[in-house]
Amino acid sequence: MDLFEYQARDIFAKHGVPVLGGEVAETPEQAEAAAEKLGGRVVVKAQVKVGGRGKAGGVKLAEGPADAKEKAAAILGMDIKGHTVHKVMLAQTAEIEAEYYVSFLLDRSNRTFLAMASVEGGMEIEEIAVSKPEALAKVPVDAAAYHEGLSQEKADEIVKAANFPHHVADQVAATLVTLWDVFVKEDATLVEVNPLVKTKAGKIVALDGKVSLDENASFRHEDHEALEDKASADPLEAKAKAKHLNYVKLDGEVGIIGNGAGLVMSTLDVVAYAGEKHGNVKPANFLDIGGGASAEVMANGLDIILNDPAVKSVFVNVFGGITACDAVANGIVEAFKLLGAEAGSKPLVVRLDGNNAELGRQILVDAKLPGVEQVDTMDGAADRAAELANAR
Ligand SMILES: Nc1ncnc2c1ncn2[C@@H]1O[C@H](COP(=O)(O)OP(=O)(O)O)[C@@H](O)[C@H]1O
Ligand SMILES: [Mg+2]
Repeated sequence: MDLFEYQARDIFAKHGVPVLGGEVAETPEQAEAAAEKLGGRVVVKAQVKVGGRGKAGGVKLAEGPADAKEKAAAILGMDIKGHTVHKVMLAQTAEIEAEYYVSFLLDRSNRTFLAMASVEGGMEIEEIAVSKPEALAKVPVDAAAYHEGLSQEKADEIVKAANFPHHVADQVAATLVTLWDVFVKEDATLVEVNPLVKTKAGKIVALDGKVSLDENASFRHEDHEALEDKASADPLEAKAKAKHLNYVKLDGEVGIIGNGAGLVMSTLDVVAYAGEKHGNVKPANFLDIGGGASAEVMANGLDIILNDPAVKSVFVNVFGGITACDAVANGIVEAFKLLGAEAGSKPLVVRLDGNNAELGRQILVDAKLPGVEQVDTMDGAADRAAELANAR
């Protein structure tokens, strides 16, 4: 989960990373009041989860509260790379003398953590990383630091690798230690400060922050749920999440339900392939109902998929294992009872294979569920589901 800058600022402050005062506003009036509170002269910053706000006109200096109101009015509602601005952050201003870059991230391919740092930070860092890679220092951080904290030696090594000027070396090293604390204690996969600035008074301050939290660790952080941007979440994904379903919305027309992530992934491939013969229909979602596949889980899954207006047909692909096909078939029958009229609203192609497949198929034949047909093979069922989606 990526955070907004103002949320990153709050988390930085909590762990001792030096930041400037900041307030969030959703209206020009709130922005005016916030600027007043912060001392008048502020920077008005669009809060969108995409970089390059400065270049897009989403970061503006305001000379006082009235000006902040005006600048906020101009920035709120702005579109930045497809993201609409619903909030602005008002931040105290820094007198910038130099802009640096620092980050920590999970380096999956090398199975370690990585620190990156540059004395050429700011809005051009992406170009610099490409055109002048030697200006971006990369220093691996061993997993031992995950328990022990970032050592002074490691912090100094990063500072040295990036050639930070001598007079800010200690401050930058200290900031790296606190930033590493953010990374570890909040279970982040990325913490990035760009720019980390040196002010005219010689102080090091984080002016912009990007934090990505590892959602797999959210059970350890009760406070992280409040950071979710519920307003812009896909409504179907939000509903699925509330029901603990493993669901991802895609942009096709064939709803997919399967048991086991691997089976569902290959079902997506097979349906996309079959769709090439049927008007290029594609899978509408990923949904893995897992091993248990109780009637309730099946009903919840069907409910989400049938409520997706893009879905024209549904493919239920089950390979019976520990949960045998007869149990899954009974689950489908029960799910239809739970869903009532909604259940028959779109054609459903079911393929049951594996443990007790014959028994499961017979249960569905006997139940005579509206709109349900069975196909014995995965390829055949995918083809039929694609054909039905294309016909509607
Ligand atoms: N509080 C601030 N005071 C002074 N200048 C700022 C402040 N915040 C940002 N800036 C300037 O605006 C530039 C862009 O802002 P930033 O927050 O990094 O947005 P983005 O990275 O999305 O373009 C920074 O590089 C810095 O020069
Ligand atoms: Mg930035």
